[in-house]
Amino acid sequence: MADVLKPDFQRGRRLRSEAGKADAVRVYVGDCRETLPQIPQVKRGEVDLVFADPPFNWARAYDEWHDKMPRNDYLDFTYDWLDLCVGALRDHGAIWVNIPDDTAAEIVLHLKQRGLHMINWCVWHYRFGQNTTSRFINSKVHALYFAKDPKNRRWNAEDVLETSDRASTYFDPRTMDKRDGMPAGKRLPMDVWYGPYWGRIQGNNKERRHGHDNQLPEVYLERVLRATSNLGDLVLDPFLGSGTTGVVAHALGRGFIGTEFSEANARRSFERIEDGPIRVGMSEDAVTAIHPPRRRRPAVTE
Ligand SMILES: C[S@@+](CC[C@H](N)C(=O)[O-])C[C@H]1O[C@@H](n2cnc3c(N)ncnc32)[C@H](O)[C@@H]1O
Repeated sequence: MADVLKPDFQRGRRLRSEAGKADAVRVYVGDCRETLPQIPQVKRGEVDLVFADPPFNWARAYDEWHDKMPRNDYLDFTYDWLDLCVGALRDHGAIWVNIPDDTAAEIVLHLKQRGLHMINWCVWHYRFGQNTTSRFINSKVHALYFAKDPKNRRWNAEDVLETSDRASTYFDPRTMDKRDGMPAGKRLPMDVWYGPYWGRIQGNNKERRHGHDNQLPEVYLERVLRATSNLGDLVLDPFLGSGTTGVVAHALGRGFIGTEFSEANARRSFERIEDGPIRVGMSEDAVTAIHPPRRRRPAVTE
Protein backbone atom coordinates (compact mmCIF):
# COMPACT_ATOMS: atom_id res chain seq x y z
CA MET A 1 0.00 0.00 0.00
CA ALA A 2 2.67 2.49 1.00
CA ASP A 3 4.37 2.52 -2.35
CA VAL A 4 1.13 2.10 -4.30
CA LEU A 5 -0.57 5.38 -3.54
CA LYS A 6 2.47 7.62 -3.74
CA PRO A 7 1.96 10.48 -1.29
CA ASP A 8 3.15 13.13 -3.71
CA PHE A 9 0.51 12.08 -6.21
CA GLN A 10 -2.10 11.54 -3.56
CA ARG A 11 -1.78 14.83 -1.72
CA GLY A 12 0.70 17.20 -3.27
CA ARG A 13 -0.12 16.98 -6.93
CA ARG A 14 -3.63 17.88 -7.66
CA LEU A 15 -5.40 20.42 -9.78
CA ARG A 16 -8.69 22.25 -9.71
CA SER A 17 -11.05 21.86 -12.62
CA GLU A 18 -12.81 24.75 -14.29
CA ALA A 19 -15.92 23.57 -12.50
CA GLY A 20 -14.15 24.61 -9.30
CA LYS A 21 -14.12 21.22 -7.61
CA ALA A 22 -11.23 20.62 -5.23
CA ASP A 23 -9.05 17.58 -5.86
CA ALA A 24 -10.22 17.55 -9.45
CA VAL A 25 -7.24 15.58 -10.78
CA ARG A 26 -5.66 12.63 -9.00
CA VAL A 27 -3.02 10.32 -10.42
CA TYR A 28 -2.14 7.06 -8.68
CA VAL A 29 0.86 4.85 -9.40
CA GLY A 30 0.62 1.05 -9.44
CA ASP A 31 -1.20 -1.92 -10.91
CA CYS A 32 -4.82 -0.79 -11.28
CA ARG A 33 -6.00 -4.10 -9.86
CA GLU A 34 -4.38 -3.01 -6.58
CA THR A 35 -4.86 0.76 -6.69
CA LEU A 36 -8.50 0.95 -7.78
CA PRO A 37 -9.92 -0.86 -4.71
CA GLN A 38 -8.12 1.67 -2.49
CA ILE A 39 -9.32 4.88 -4.12
CA PRO A 40 -12.16 6.39 -2.07
CA GLN A 41 -14.34 7.50 -5.01
CA VAL A 42 -13.98 4.07 -6.59
CA LYS A 43 -14.85 2.31 -3.36
CA ARG A 44 -17.92 4.51 -2.94
CA GLY A 45 -19.06 4.03 -6.55
CA GLU A 46 -18.85 7.75 -7.38
CA VAL A 47 -17.41 7.58 -10.90
CA ASP A 48 -19.58 8.96 -13.71
CA LEU A 49 -17.53 7.72 -16.66
CA VAL A 50 -14.68 5.25 -17.23
CA PHE A 51 -12.45 5.40 -20.28
CA ALA A 52 -9.99 2.49 -20.54
CA ASP A 53 -7.27 1.93 -23.13
CA PRO A 54 -5.56 -1.16 -21.69
CA PRO A 55 -2.32 -2.81 -22.77
CA PHE A 56 -3.21 -5.01 -25.77
CA ASN A 57 -0.80 -7.85 -24.83
CA TRP A 58 1.08 -7.22 -28.07
CA ALA A 59 4.56 -7.25 -26.50
CA ARG A 60 4.73 -3.46 -26.63
CA ALA A 61 7.77 -1.91 -24.98
CA TYR A 62 5.98 -0.12 -22.15
CA ASP A 63 8.09 1.71 -19.62
CA GLU A 64 7.58 -0.93 -16.91
CA TRP A 65 4.59 -3.13 -17.72
CA HIS A 66 5.36 -6.55 -19.25
CA ASP A 67 3.00 -6.69 -22.23
CA LYS A 68 3.12 -10.37 -23.08
CA MET A 69 1.07 -12.52 -20.71
CA PRO A 70 -0.15 -16.03 -21.49
CA ARG A 71 -3.55 -15.55 -23.14
CA ASN A 72 -5.59 -16.91 -20.23
CA ASP A 73 -3.73 -14.70 -17.76
CA TYR A 74 -4.41 -11.70 -19.98
CA LEU A 75 -8.11 -12.52 -20.07
CA ASP A 76 -8.21 -12.89 -16.28
CA PHE A 77 -6.41 -9.56 -15.98
CA THR A 78 -8.95 -8.02 -18.37
CA TYR A 79 -11.97 -9.32 -16.46
CA ASP A 80 -10.47 -8.18 -13.14
CA TRP A 81 -9.97 -4.56 -14.16
CA LEU A 82 -13.30 -4.46 -16.00
CA ASP A 83 -15.12 -5.61 -12.84
CA LEU A 84 -13.36 -2.99 -10.73
CA CYS A 85 -14.30 -0.26 -13.19
CA VAL A 86 -17.92 -1.38 -13.41
CA GLY A 87 -18.10 -1.46 -9.61
CA ALA A 88 -16.87 2.15 -9.50
CA LEU A 89 -19.74 3.52 -11.58
CA ARG A 90 -22.74 5.49 -10.38
CA ASP A 91 -26.17 4.27 -11.49
CA HIS A 92 -26.08 6.56 -14.54
CA GLY A 93 -22.45 5.62 -15.26
CA ALA A 94 -20.92 4.36 -18.47
CA ILE A 95 -17.69 2.76 -19.63
CA TRP A 96 -15.71 3.05 -22.86
CA VAL A 97 -13.06 0.50 -23.78
CA ASN A 98 -10.52 1.03 -26.57
CA ILE A 99 -9.55 -2.44 -27.76
CA PRO A 100 -8.38 -4.13 -30.98
CA ASP A 101 -9.97 -7.08 -32.78
CA ASP A 102 -8.39 -9.86 -30.76
CA THR A 103 -10.07 -9.11 -27.41
CA ALA A 104 -13.13 -7.03 -28.38
CA ALA A 105 -15.51 -10.02 -28.41
CA GLU A 106 -14.46 -11.21 -24.95
CA ILE A 107 -14.93 -7.72 -23.49
CA VAL A 108 -18.35 -7.28 -25.06
CA LEU A 109 -19.48 -10.63 -23.69
CA HIS A 110 -18.09 -9.94 -20.24
CA LEU A 111 -19.73 -6.53 -19.93
CA LYS A 112 -23.07 -7.98 -21.06
CA GLN A 113 -22.72 -10.74 -18.49
CA ARG A 114 -22.13 -8.05 -15.85
CA GLY A 115 -25.51 -6.55 -16.79
CA LEU A 116 -24.29 -3.56 -18.79
CA HIS A 117 -25.96 -2.46 -22.02
CA MET A 118 -24.16 -1.76 -25.25
CA ILE A 119 -25.02 1.69 -26.56
CA ASN A 120 -22.54 1.84 -29.44
CA TRP A 121 -19.79 -0.31 -30.90
CA CYS A 122 -17.73 2.44 -32.51
CA VAL A 123 -14.62 2.02 -34.61
CA TRP A 124 -11.66 4.37 -34.61
CA HIS A 125 -10.31 4.21 -38.14
CA TYR A 126 -6.76 5.39 -38.80
CA ARG A 127 -4.55 5.43 -41.89
CA PHE A 128 -1.01 4.05 -41.88
CA GLY A 129 -1.64 0.75 -40.13
CA GLN A 130 1.34 -1.60 -40.33
CA ASN A 131 1.69 -3.02 -43.86
CA THR A 132 0.82 -6.71 -44.32
CA THR A 133 1.01 -8.98 -47.36
CA SER A 134 -0.96 -12.09 -46.32
CA ARG A 135 -4.09 -10.39 -44.96
CA PHE A 136 -5.74 -6.99 -45.00
CA ILE A 137 -4.00 -4.19 -43.16
CA ASN A 138 -5.30 -3.39 -39.68
CA SER A 139 -6.64 0.15 -39.67
CA LYS A 140 -9.02 0.27 -36.73
CA VAL A 141 -9.53 -0.14 -33.01
CA HIS A 142 -12.91 -0.70 -31.38
CA ALA A 143 -14.40 1.91 -29.06
CA LEU A 144 -16.97 0.01 -27.01
CA TYR A 145 -19.55 2.13 -25.20
CA PHE A 146 -21.61 0.45 -22.48
CA ALA A 147 -23.96 1.97 -19.91
CA LYS A 148 -25.40 0.63 -16.68
CA ASP A 149 -28.82 1.99 -17.59
CA PRO A 150 -29.50 2.92 -21.22
CA LYS A 151 -32.42 5.15 -20.19
CA ASN A 152 -30.50 7.00 -17.51
CA ARG A 153 -27.11 8.07 -18.78
CA ARG A 154 -25.21 11.17 -19.81
CA TRP A 155 -25.83 12.09 -23.43
CA ASN A 156 -24.97 15.50 -24.87
CA ALA A 157 -25.67 15.21 -28.58
CA GLU A 158 -25.52 18.94 -29.13
CA ASP A 159 -21.89 19.06 -27.94
CA VAL A 160 -20.52 16.76 -30.66
CA LEU A 161 -22.46 17.58 -33.82
CA GLU A 162 -20.83 17.53 -37.25
CA THR A 163 -21.72 19.10 -40.57
CA SER A 164 -23.80 16.54 -42.44
CA ASP A 165 -22.76 15.20 -45.84
CA ARG A 166 -26.06 16.49 -47.20
CA ALA A 167 -24.95 20.01 -46.27
CA SER A 168 -21.24 19.83 -47.12
CA THR A 169 -21.35 17.63 -50.23
CA TYR A 170 -24.83 17.37 -51.73
CA PHE A 171 -26.24 20.81 -50.86
CA ASP A 172 -29.56 19.16 -50.13
CA PRO A 173 -32.00 21.81 -48.87
CA ARG A 174 -33.84 19.22 -46.74
CA THR A 175 -30.96 19.21 -44.27
CA MET A 176 -31.61 22.88 -43.53
CA ASP A 177 -35.13 22.13 -42.30
CA LYS A 178 -34.84 18.91 -40.33
CA ARG A 179 -37.45 17.28 -38.17
CA ASP A 180 -35.15 15.23 -35.94
CA GLY A 181 -34.43 18.11 -33.59
CA MET A 182 -30.88 18.64 -34.85
CA PRO A 183 -29.81 22.12 -35.99
CA ALA A 184 -29.81 22.88 -39.71
CA GLY A 185 -27.03 21.10 -41.60
CA LYS A 186 -25.83 19.18 -38.56
CA ARG A 187 -25.99 15.58 -37.40
CA LEU A 188 -24.37 13.30 -34.86
CA PRO A 189 -21.09 11.67 -35.90
CA MET A 190 -21.37 8.17 -37.35
CA ASP A 191 -19.98 5.20 -35.43
CA VAL A 192 -16.82 5.01 -37.54
CA TRP A 193 -14.50 7.77 -36.43
CA TYR A 194 -11.88 9.40 -38.65
CA GLY A 195 -11.00 12.78 -40.08
CA PRO A 196 -8.65 15.69 -39.43
CA TYR A 197 -6.55 15.10 -36.29
CA TRP A 198 -7.88 11.53 -35.94
CA GLY A 199 -4.67 9.83 -37.13
CA ARG A 200 -2.33 7.81 -34.91
CA ILE A 201 -0.05 10.10 -32.95
CA GLN A 202 3.29 9.58 -34.65
CA GLY A 203 6.23 11.41 -36.22
CA ASN A 204 6.13 15.15 -35.69
CA ASN A 205 2.46 15.28 -34.65
CA LYS A 206 2.10 18.28 -32.31
CA GLU A 207 0.31 16.16 -29.70
CA ARG A 208 3.09 13.60 -29.46
CA ARG A 209 4.57 12.99 -26.01
CA HIS A 210 8.01 11.57 -25.41
CA GLY A 211 8.19 7.82 -24.78
CA HIS A 212 4.73 6.79 -26.04
CA ASP A 213 3.96 5.00 -29.28
CA ASN A 214 0.31 4.28 -28.49
CA GLN A 215 -1.05 7.67 -27.56
CA LEU A 216 -4.68 8.34 -28.52
CA PRO A 217 -5.57 11.55 -30.38
CA GLU A 218 -7.14 14.27 -28.24
CA VAL A 219 -10.14 14.57 -30.57
CA TYR A 220 -11.12 10.99 -29.70
CA LEU A 221 -11.27 11.73 -25.97
CA GLU A 222 -12.92 15.07 -26.63
CA ARG A 223 -15.79 13.37 -28.45
CA VAL A 224 -16.17 10.67 -25.79
CA LEU A 225 -16.06 13.08 -22.86
CA ARG A 226 -18.25 15.81 -24.36
CA ALA A 227 -20.93 13.33 -25.46
CA THR A 228 -21.05 11.05 -22.42
CA SER A 229 -20.06 13.12 -19.38
CA ASN A 230 -21.12 16.46 -17.92
CA LEU A 231 -19.25 19.45 -16.53
CA GLY A 232 -18.07 18.55 -13.00
CA ASP A 233 -18.46 14.78 -13.51
CA LEU A 234 -15.78 12.37 -12.33
CA VAL A 235 -13.90 10.50 -15.07
CA LEU A 236 -11.65 7.49 -14.38
CA ASP A 237 -8.92 6.11 -16.65
CA PRO A 238 -7.15 3.03 -15.20
CA PHE A 239 -4.43 3.04 -17.93
CA LEU A 240 -3.26 6.61 -18.06
CA GLY A 241 -0.31 6.20 -20.47
CA SER A 242 0.65 9.64 -21.74
CA GLY A 243 -2.37 11.19 -20.01
CA THR A 244 -4.69 11.90 -22.96
CA THR A 245 -7.89 11.25 -21.01
CA GLY A 246 -6.70 13.35 -18.10
CA VAL A 247 -5.62 16.36 -20.12
CA VAL A 248 -8.86 16.47 -22.09
CA ALA A 249 -11.07 15.78 -19.05
CA HIS A 250 -9.42 18.57 -17.08
CA ALA A 251 -9.66 21.02 -19.98
CA LEU A 252 -13.38 20.23 -20.29
CA GLY A 253 -14.05 20.82 -16.59
CA ARG A 254 -14.42 17.19 -15.54
CA GLY A 255 -12.84 15.77 -12.40
CA PHE A 256 -10.32 13.05 -13.13
CA ILE A 257 -8.70 10.01 -11.55
CA GLY A 258 -5.95 8.18 -13.42
CA THR A 259 -3.94 5.10 -12.50
CA GLU A 260 -0.73 4.09 -14.21
CA PHE A 261 1.75 1.26 -13.60
CA SER A 262 4.82 3.30 -14.58
CA GLU A 263 5.77 6.08 -12.21
CA ALA A 264 7.60 7.94 -14.99
CA ASN A 265 4.49 7.83 -17.20
CA ALA A 266 2.33 8.98 -14.31
CA ARG A 267 4.60 11.97 -13.62
CA ARG A 268 4.77 12.96 -17.26
CA SER A 269 1.03 12.63 -17.72
CA PHE A 270 0.44 14.81 -14.68
CA GLU A 271 2.69 17.46 -16.23
CA ARG A 272 0.76 17.14 -19.48
CA ILE A 273 -2.52 17.70 -17.64
CA GLU A 274 -1.02 20.86 -16.09
CA ASP A 275 0.20 22.06 -19.52
CA GLY A 276 -3.20 21.56 -21.16
CA PRO A 277 -4.28 20.03 -24.44
CA ILE A 278 -3.19 20.92 -27.97
CA ARG A 279 -6.33 20.36 -30.02
CA VAL A 280 -9.40 20.51 -27.81
CA GLY A 281 -12.04 22.66 -29.51
CA MET A 282 -10.51 22.32 -32.97
CA SER A 283 -12.97 19.76 -34.33
CA GLU A 284 -16.05 21.90 -33.96
CA ASP A 285 -17.90 22.11 -37.29
CA ALA A 286 -15.81 19.26 -38.67
CA VAL A 287 -16.73 17.81 -42.06
CA THR A 288 -16.07 14.10 -42.56
CA ALA A 289 -17.60 13.59 -46.01
CA ILE A 290 -15.37 11.37 -48.13
CA HIS A 291 -16.61 12.59 -51.53
CA PRO A 292 -15.94 16.00 -53.01
CA PRO A 293 -18.96 18.32 -53.31
CA ARG A 294 -21.28 16.81 -55.96
CA ARG A 295 -23.23 19.71 -57.33
CA ARG A 296 -22.76 23.39 -57.66
CA ARG A 297 -23.84 25.36 -54.63
CA PRO A 298 -27.19 27.01 -55.37
CA ALA A 299 -26.75 30.62 -56.39
CA VAL A 300 -27.50 33.01 -53.54
CA THR A 301 -30.48 35.20 -54.34
CA GLU A 302 -31.21 38.44 -52.56
C1 LIG B 1 -2.30 1.64 -24.29
S1 LIG B 1 -1.45 2.55 -23.06
C2 LIG B 1 -2.58 3.88 -22.71
C3 LIG B 1 -2.38 5.03 -23.66
C4 LIG B 1 -3.25 6.22 -23.33
N1 LIG B 1 -4.64 6.01 -23.65
C5 LIG B 1 -2.74 7.46 -24.06
O1 LIG B 1 -3.48 8.06 -24.86
O2 LIG B 1 -1.59 7.82 -23.84
C6 LIG B 1 -1.57 1.53 -21.66
C7 LIG B 1 -0.90 2.09 -20.42
O3 LIG B 1 -1.33 1.28 -19.33
C8 LIG B 1 -0.25 1.09 -18.44
N2 LIG B 1 -0.54 -0.16 -17.70
C9 LIG B 1 -0.39 -1.43 -18.12
N3 LIG B 1 -0.83 -2.29 -17.21
C10 LIG B 1 -1.29 -1.56 -16.17
C11 LIG B 1 -1.89 -1.88 -14.93
N4 LIG B 1 -2.10 -3.14 -14.57
N5 LIG B 1 -2.28 -0.88 -14.12
C12 LIG B 1 -2.09 0.42 -14.48
N6 LIG B 1 -1.51 0.78 -15.64
C13 LIG B 1 -1.12 -0.18 -16.49
C14 LIG B 1 0.99 1.02 -19.33
O4 LIG B 1 2.16 1.37 -18.60
C15 LIG B 1 0.61 2.04 -20.43
O5 LIG B 1 1.12 3.31 -20.10
